[in-house]
Amino acid sequence: MKTIKKLCAAVLLLVMPAVAGASGAGMHLDKAPVNLQDLASLQRGVKLFTSRCLACHGASSMRYNRLKDIGMTEEEVKKKLELPEDVKIGSTMQAAMDPNSAKLAYGVAPPDLSVISRSRSADWLYTYLRSFHLDKTRASGWNNTVFPNVGMPHVLADLQGELELKIEKQAGHETRKLVLATPGTLKPAEYDAAIADLTNYLVYMGEPAKMVRYKLGMIVLGFLFALFVLIFMLKKEVWKDIH
Ligand code: HEC
Repeated sequence: MKTIKKLCAAVLLLVMPAVAGASGAGMHLDKAPVNLQDLASLQRGVKLFTSRCLACHGASSMRYNRLKDIGMTEEEVKKKLELPEDVKIGSTMQAAMDPNSAKLAYGVAPPDLSVISRSRSADWLYTYLRSFHLDKTRASGWNNTVFPNVGMPHVLADLQGELELKIEKQAGHETRKLVLATPGTLKPAEYDAAIADLTNYLVYMGEPAKMVRYKLGMIVLGFLFALFVLIFMLKKEVWKDIH
């Protein structure tokens, strides 16, 4: 009994720091309302992604024609995402800016976002994209509470508006709050919903196999059900003459 208790304690000690590290060392992250079955949300997400993020980031393992996973026909991809004439439907999502010029402009090359939802959690992405705030000390004019001194400017400021970081000290306790100083074209709840869609899309992009697994899961369930019906009928047939 004692050894079991000791073992449990050891396992807990091993796991705890990993959990704390994964959550960003005590940083508060908002819960991302991810739902990969919500195709309309994924379609809004990819629209925001291609119109606002591909300027700097690529998604080199994502092909446009794979968007049929999320219910878009090739025609819809071309039209809704305003695909330039020279971009083929079978090509991967490339950044408009080349990495070297981006590095010169922002100090850091914008990373490829194909699998960003695996290195950063959905909650982290959802919080990060809503936590840019004005900072005069930074060359870009922006900072971020979950990614201090980030090289990326707030590219969605026109939608969200401009936030300011307010730090209040009370009895040695510090509270940090983001306050909307200048409103954007979207109301705060609308901006949160748009970022939820974008996060949803980033999670889908990092886990394309998940969509295939959903489909496979349904096929397996259907097969098991059919098998059950067959076996049931067989059992009836076999026992019919024995009674
Ligand atoms: C103007 C160029 C630019 C645009 C547009 C842009 N980013 Fe960035 N982004 C950057 C740069 C530069 C970095 C690297 C920042 C650093 O490491 O300090 C970055 C970093 C990031 C990171 C953190 C990556 C990591 O884990 O280190 C994420 C996530 C991200 N961007 C998402 C987005 C999304 C989503 C969009 C579209 C809404 C977007 N970016 C649009 C320039 C851009």
